[in-house]
Amino acid sequence: MTDLNMQTFEQNKPIGYVVGGGLEANLQVRLTVPPQEVQEGAFVVIDSGTWRFYGLVTDLQLGSTDPRFADEQSELRLPAGLAGLLHGQTLFTNLNVMPVLMIDRGPEPGSLTYEAWRREHPENAAPVTVKTVPSHHAPVRLADAEDIAQIFGEEDNHNIFCVGHTREQGHPVCLNLEKLVQRSSGIFGTTGSGKSFLARMILAGLIHAGHTATLIFDMHNEYGPDSISSDTSQAVPGLKGKFGAQVRLVGLGAKTSFGKLPADFTLEIAQSDITSEDILLLSEELNLNETAATVLSALERDLGDQWFSAFADMRNGAMEQNEDGKLVPAPDSVAFWANQAGVNAKSAEALRSKLDRVMRKDYLVRSTATRGLQEVIDSLENGIHVILSFGEYSNDLDYLLVTNLLTRKIRDRWKKLTEDSYKDKGKQPRPLVVVVEEAHKLLNRGMASQTIFSTIAREMRKYYVTLLIIDQRPSQIYDEVMSQLGTRISGSLGDEDDINAVLSGLPGRAALRGMLAKLQPKEEVLMLGWGVPMPIPIRSRRYDARFWQQVLGNQAQPKTIAEINRSLGFEADDSD
Ligand SMILES: Nc1ncnc2c1ncn2[C@@H]1O[C@H](COP(=O)(O)OP(=O)(O)OP(=O)(O)O)[C@@H](O)[C@H]1O
Ligand SMILES: [Mg+2]
Repeated sequence: MTDLNMQTFEQNKPIGYVVGGGLEANLQVRLTVPPQEVQEGAFVVIDSGTWRFYGLVTDLQLGSTDPRFADEQSELRLPAGLAGLLHGQTLFTNLNVMPVLMIDRGPEPGSLTYEAWRREHPENAAPVTVKTVPSHHAPVRLADAEDIAQIFGEEDNHNIFCVGHTREQGHPVCLNLEKLVQRSSGIFGTTGSGKSFLARMILAGLIHAGHTATLIFDMHNEYGPDSISSDTSQAVPGLKGKFGAQVRLVGLGAKTSFGKLPADFTLEIAQSDITSEDILLLSEELNLNETAATVLSALERDLGDQWFSAFADMRNGAMEQNEDGKLVPAPDSVAFWANQAGVNAKSAEALRSKLDRVMRKDYLVRSTATRGLQEVIDSLENGIHVILSFGEYSNDLDYLLVTNLLTRKIRDRWKKLTEDSYKDKGKQPRPLVVVVEEAHKLLNRGMASQTIFSTIAREMRKYYVTLLIIDQRPSQIYDEVMSQLGTRISGSLGDEDDINAVLSGLPGRAALRGMLAKLQPKEEVLMLGWGVPMPIPIRSRRYDARFWQQVLGNQAQPKTIAEINRSLGFEADDSD
């Protein structure tokens, strides 16, 4: 990166100068160029003394030295030249600028003290949160590409990933992927605002960078196989076609297919993997009552990890005649088990009939041909990305049950890996990102306390597991989870509550609210939160052939397993 101090104003002329304001009330900047050259959300730079300030334009206001000059259409009455002069003196536009960051630039280059200062500060200082204000009349200019790279990083097609461009001058704005995955993050926007497209690009960046593993719960079959855009009817490449064996396409149940692409494997879940906890979180979906928890814990206590299949084998309401000719519960009935286990027979029977819906799922099997859930976890541990497609099992029950089962296993595994790494001072586990679409189904106020997902959002970052949640209705996600999201990227949102939810827990909400409400559908997003140095609205990167050319270069063909093994230093045959 070039020396921050060597940049001159000439590269990018001032657009105005500071005339008032403060840290709380934002800065007032008198505009010296036509107002149409600046937009709300513009990223501006203010140099004052040894400090460089970075801020965002949050509003533009028309002003006049006296209201009469604004009210009268003097251009109709006076000759054009004179009217121009009068307007220049009396009418103006003020920018409202929210200062966000500042950086110590040291003395002017070439001055007596500069050399000594530079020796003491060989590296450019890092930006810090603003704690002071620029002086009166400090010049203000639009940020250029170098300013933006200084704050957001310079694209390296590895860790620093371009997500879009500034709206005025089209300078690239990047996201630090390593930082992104250190906390949970979210992509929001109304339907059709480009969430899935953006998520696909960020996931491509993560897969290409290679330092994380990703597990994508693909509800609508959008991420793995190639598809067709419903809006433009153009082909939309999926991640499998581009990354080959680095990505495993997993279909839930034997019937899930990916069109022409074969599934890498079929996920069937052993019934012995299901715990009472997994059933309890379906309480709302299955309409379970309070007694269900007691019955479930008795089942687990009595029948061990085979409780689910044993319970499925019991007949509901089966009776037989005893020696005295009386009708009593048959030995293989639910009531018979309940009586001898000391639980209420009616409650057990009610639970058994409500669990019928789960027991009929054909992806829940007594014994799996593959290693089931473990196979997914092993892949992730080895840095292979997994896209789990739900195929025709697309109702909420399937989504809740499977995502929770798998994620619970992941939590246990990553916790163990992290604890082992403390003990043996070994390698830390690979960061894992779990991607969930329609996240409010798993993270709404009612569910959040029960599903594993809120635990992940709140505390799993210590164990290197974070979420990437994608949702149209952020207001329906439990606020405690929303406020934990490190990075938030939001497309246009219509609803006030959704806008407030995206901004929850962040400073400068009032200023950002307007920016979020005015984003262009499909083309613009606002990036904000802990994971980005400062909030910024951008034109989102386009997902097209050029994107793939930039990410993968000429490596047009996906890698085969043999190629990956070779690049990792393992000998492998070329048979695949
Ligand atoms: N970055 C982009 N590059 C190219 N086209 C885009 C981009 N973002 C959005 N689009 C266009 O907008 C359409 C909708 O985008 P997308 O499917 O990502 O919406 P969504 O927010 O995921 O909607 P939903 O909530 O309904 O799933 C796409 O089919 C595409 O035509
Ligand atoms: Mg979508």
